[in-house]
This record gives sequence, structure tokens and C-alpha cells, in this order.
Amino acid sequence: MALFSRELGIDLGTFFIRVAEGNEVVLQEPTVAAIVIDEQKMVAWGQEAQNMLGKVPESLEVTRPLENGVIADYEVTEYMLAALLKKLTGPLRIFGPRVMVTVPYGVTSVESRAVHEATLQAGGREAYLVQQPLAAALGVDLPIGTPSGNMLICLGGGSTQAAVMAMYGIVSAETLRAGGMSLDEAIVGYVRKKYGLIIGQLTAEQVKIRIGAAVPQEEEQSIEIQGQDQVNGLPRPASLTTGEIVEALREPLGNIIDTARRVLEKTPPELVSDIIDRGVALTGGGAMLRGIDKLMTKELGIPAYRVDNPMMCTAQGAARALEMYPVIRRNLPAV
Ligand SMILES: Nc1ncnc2c1ncn2[C@@H]1O[C@H](COP(=O)(O)OP(=O)(O)OP(=O)(O)O)[C@@H](O)[C@H]1O
Ligand SMILES: [Mg+2]
Repeated sequence: MALFSRELGIDLGTFFIRVAEGNEVVLQEPTVAAIVIDEQKMVAWGQEAQNMLGKVPESLEVTRPLENGVIADYEVTEYMLAALLKKLTGPLRIFGPRVMVTVPYGVTSVESRAVHEATLQAGGREAYLVQQPLAAALGVDLPIGTPSGNMLICLGGGSTQAAVMAMYGIVSAETLRAGGMSLDEAIVGYVRKKYGLIIGQLTAEQVKIRIGAAVPQEEEQSIEIQGQDQVNGLPRPASLTTGEIVEALREPLGNIIDTARRVLEKTPPELVSDIIDRGVALTGGGAMLRGIDKLMTKELGIPAYRVDNPMMCTAQGAARALEMYPVIRRNLPAV
């Protein structure tokens, strides 16, 4: 049992919670909890709870406590954070950990206070908050401590955040309360309209990950899916191609591009010229979508690139933010 307090960076995402200590990601679990409805007691969380989705009796509810990056169910979030801290630090600790938790850029003070409170209630000895784009930029080592422009887009599951940063602070940014999940929904809608078939969001997500792309690909892939006929309710197969997914994703990706464009528009020209030189960093699970870098590059007119570790960098950066707290504190959300 370690006597010293541990220092953790927590990326509290809509779909995944990731925890880093130093530069190492020590935990990654789906942001899902299984709750006994009558007692409001959590019986499983993370992957274990995710495996129960759609397969539980009426007495249990499997839920995601975050929506579009912000806490929708305070209690369940707190239960999850408590379970996570206990798993990482053990029950017999004298000092709780010091924790830096991420919040989306632009959340209200009520929303950020909820994250702060939940972390303390869950056993954090000290809790601080950092905006996700700032954490991600620290995690991928962008030179944001300098008086020059750095742009990063977090393509999360429930949110999209585009930000320009300099001097360890956010200069201009915008959050769209839509992300990867809206891409899945667009695929569901496309298949219903074109084939008269109903498919679930999880199937749509699989299709997106397996054959999806943001721009037409040289090598067209296809996948066989099973849906439910919209009219007679019977199961029926259909085959989807990469080209069809590109078409289905056009509109939600357009919204994401518009968000990034608006941020560029309100960025001072000197900083924009730095960004043109350095490119736009893409992070989050959505950065894994084939061709997203090409689409962004074309639509923004500035080279965009996927960072090395798009899904882990925000947690790593949160841990980094804790180490750098004295330097960056002025630029962190107040609680
Ligand atoms: N290979 C892939 N291609 C396309 N999308 C992907 C791929 N892998 C993961 N994703 C998507 O990434 C999203 C999850 O990303 P991430 O883990 O960054 O989200 P999050 O941090 O939980 O959400 P948020 O930051 O919005 O709160 C999901 O929508 C998932 O479908
Ligand atoms: Mg995220």
C-alpha cells in the first residue's frame, strides 16, 4: 500500500473513461453502469456493464451517465468514479488521489461544478478540471506554451470540440454537442430510407468502423448486415458499401467542419498563419475514421493530420496538466 497520494488524469468521456498516471494509461472502461432500479445501487460498470446492454431484466437498468460530454446522471457518475478510484488506489489508502478531470470546452459552471463535486465525493483528495482540447494538446505535445497558434479538433463520441490555443490557454474554440454517435445515427437513417430496413446503433457503429470513410476510397469495401423490414418486421439482409457510408456521413461531417470553420473565422490572422504552417491536429475516436484527415484538409484549406494516439492523448494530457498545474492554473475552468 502506497502512502503517498497518487496523481491521476481522468478523461471523462461520453463513451469511455480513460485514466492516465504520468504518461501511462492505467485504465480504460466504457462509461456505462448497470443499476438496480429499486435500490439505485450500481452492480456493474465499465465493460462488464456494457456487456449487459439490452440483455437485462426489468429490475436492472444499463445506462450511460454522460450525454454529449456532460454529466446527465450525477449519482451514477459519482458511483462510477468511486468504483474506478477504488480499483486503482485500493480501499485502504490514507490519502485519496489528486485528480485532474477533463470537461468539454464551454460547459456551464453548473456542469463543471458537478464534475468537480462528483470527483471529490468519489474519493479524490483534490480535484481540478481541464478543458478537453487543452488536455489533448498537452497529451500530444503541441507547443501550446508559446505565443503561436495551435489548432486541435477533438472528435469524440458525443461531442466535437475545435480549439485554437496559445500560451497554455484557449484563444478561440467551439463545442458541438454531437460527435461519433451522430455519424452512427446518420447510418441508421440512411439504411432505413434507402433499404426500408431498421438497424440498431451498435450495428451502425460497427459498419462505420469496419468499412466507413469520410471521403471516397480507392478500395471500395462492403459488408453484409441484418436488419428488420420496416413494413413487415421480418429480418432481412442488405449489403452496404464504403461509398454509401461516405454519402450517409456527409451531413453530420458537414456540421463538424462548420464548427471548425467558425473557430478559424474568429481566430486572429497571425495565429491562423501559424496554424497553416503547423497543421490541424485531429484527436478522439472520430480521428480514426478513414479519410477524415483528407476531408478536413480539403474543407478547411489547412493540412489536418491524425495524432499518434488519438484516443489516449486526452487522459495523458490531463495527467500532464496536473503536473503543470502551477503554470496553467489561470487558464483552467474555475470551480
Ligand atoms: N475506427 C473508427 N472509425 C470511426 N469512428 C471510430 C473508430 N473507432 C472509434 N470510433 C468512434 O469514436 C467515438 C468514441 O471516441 P472517444 O473515445 O474519443 O469518445 P469519448 O471521449 O468517450 O466522447 P466525448 O469526448 O464526446 O465525451 C465513438 O463514436 C466511436 O464510434
Ligand atoms: Mg473525449
